[in-house]
Amino acid sequence: MDNLSRLLKESWALVEDQQEEVAGYFYARLFLSNPELRDLFPVQMNVQRARLLKAIVRSIQTIDSPEQFDDYLRSLGRDHRKFLVEPRHYDLVRDALLEALREHGGERWSLAYEQAWRDAYDMIAARMQAGAADDPNPPFWEAVVLTHERRTPDIAVFTCRPEYPFTYRAGQYVSVEVPRYQPRLWRTYSIANAPTEENVLEFHVRAHGAGWVSGALVRRIQPGDVIRIAAPMGSMTLDPTSTRDVVCVAGGTGLAPIKAIIGELARYNRTRWVHVFFGARTRDELYDLEALNALAAQYPWLTVVPACSEDPDFAGEQGLVSDVVARYGPWHEHDFFVAGSSAMVKATLRTLSELQVPSIRVKYDAFTDS
Ligand SMILES: Cc1cc2nc3c(=O)[nH]c(=O)nc-3n(C[C@H](O)[C@H](O)[C@H](O)COP(=O)(O)OP(=O)(O)OC[C@H]3O[C@@H](n4cnc5c(N)ncnc54)[C@H](O)[C@@H]3O)c2cc1C
Ligand code: HEM
Repeated sequence: MDNLSRLLKESWALVEDQQEEVAGYFYARLFLSNPELRDLFPVQMNVQRARLLKAIVRSIQTIDSPEQFDDYLRSLGRDHRKFLVEPRHYDLVRDALLEALREHGGERWSLAYEQAWRDAYDMIAARMQAGAADDPNPPFWEAVVLTHERRTPDIAVFTCRPEYPFTYRAGQYVSVEVPRYQPRLWRTYSIANAPTEENVLEFHVRAHGAGWVSGALVRRIQPGDVIRIAAPMGSMTLDPTSTRDVVCVAGGTGLAPIKAIIGELARYNRTRWVHVFFGARTRDELYDLEALNALAAQYPWLTVVPACSEDPDFAGEQGLVSDVVARYGPWHEHDFFVAGSSAMVKATLRTLSELQVPSIRVKYDAFTDS
C-alpha cells in the first residue's frame, strides 16, 4: 500500500465510528460559511440520507490511483453540473470536509493526515472539473412527459421528449429530477428504448417503499409535466464489432436497458441469436411480458424466457432468474447483458462465473441506490 492510501486508511479509522457527527458538522459548517450553497442541495435533508459527504469519503477511500478512474471522474464532474456546481465550490467543500475530520479526529489527528485528505481530494476534484469544463452539452435537458402507464401499483412505464435532441446509446442511463414534486433530488434510470428520430425516451420505474424520486415518477407525474434529465452515462452497450450470440438477463425494471438493446438489435440484426431471461417475483411484476412476447413473435432470432420466484401458479419457469439461466445453455460463446437489483445482479454474475463464462463478455448494471 502506498503512503497516501496508508495515511487515508489510518486517519479514517479515527473518525469511522462518528460518521453521523462528522456529517452533521460538515453540512453545518458548509452551509453556515456559504449560505448560497444550501440551494444546491435537496429541500429536505437529513444526515442519514444526505449523499455528498458519503460519496466523497467513498471516492477518496477507493480511488487510490485517479489516472485509472479518469473516465469515471470526468463524467462525474460533467454530471455534477446538473446540481449547478461551479469550479469555485470545490475548495469550499474541501475546507468543510477537512475541518469536520480535524474536529472529530481527536488527539491523534495530525498534519500529515490532513495533507493526505487534501491531496486526495484535490486530485479527484481536478479531474471532475476538467470533465465539466470540456463538456459542450447543457447541464441538463427539460423533457415533457408524453405518456404515463401504471402497469402495477408500484411500476410505471412512461415516455418523454427532451427539449433538444438527446444523443445516447442503447443500454445507457441518465439522472432524472422531478422538479415539481422532488426538486434537487436526482436518481439514475435506464433508458428503455433505442434512440428514435422522434427524440422520445421511455423509462420503466419501480417505486421503492418511501423512495422519493421513484415514488414521484410512478405515482405523481402525468402527461404534460416537465422532468429533467442529465447527460447519458454507462457502458452497458452493444459492441458493434461482435458477432457472438447474446444473452440478456433482466430482473424487474432491469428490463429497461435490455429492451433498449433489443430495440437496437432489431434495426440491423439478422444473424445473432438473442435469448432474454426476464425474472420477477410474480406474474404481475413481469409488467412488460406482452410487449416482449410480441417482439419475439416478430423477430425469429429472439427467444424470451420469463421466470417467477414467488408465484407457484405461473406457467413458465419457476425460481430466481439467475438459477433459470443456468438451466439453459451452454453459454460459452455469448455476450451477456445483466440488469436489475444488486442482489439479482450479484447472483447472476456468480452463476455465470460457475458456468465458466469469461467475465470480459459480461456487461451489467446494478440498480443500487447510488
Ligand atoms: C445505473 C442505474 C440504473 C438504474 N435504472 C433504474 C431503472 O431503469 N428503473 C428503476 O426503477 N430504478 C433504476 N435504478 C434505481 C434508482 O436509481 C433509484 O435508486 C430508485 O428509484 C430509488 O430512488 P428513490 O429516490 O425513490 O429512493 P430513495 O429516497 O433514494 O430511497 C432509497 C431506498 O431507501 C428507502 N428509504 C426511504 N425512506 C427512508 C428513510 N427515511 N430512511 C432509510 N431508508 C429509507 C427507500 O424505500 C428506498 O428503498 C437504477 C440505479 C442505477 C445505479
Ligand atoms: C471530490 C469531489 C466530489 C466528489 C467525489 C463528489 C461525488 C458525488 C457523488 C458520487 C454523488 C452522488 C451521485 C449523485 O447523486 O448523482 C454526489 C452528490 C452530490 N454532490 Fe458531489 N462530489 C464532489 C464535490 C462536490 C461539490 C464541490 C459540490 C458543490 C457543492 C457537490 C455537490 C453535490 C450535491 C448537491 C449532491 C447531491 C446531494 C444529495 O442528493 O444529498 N459535490 N457527489
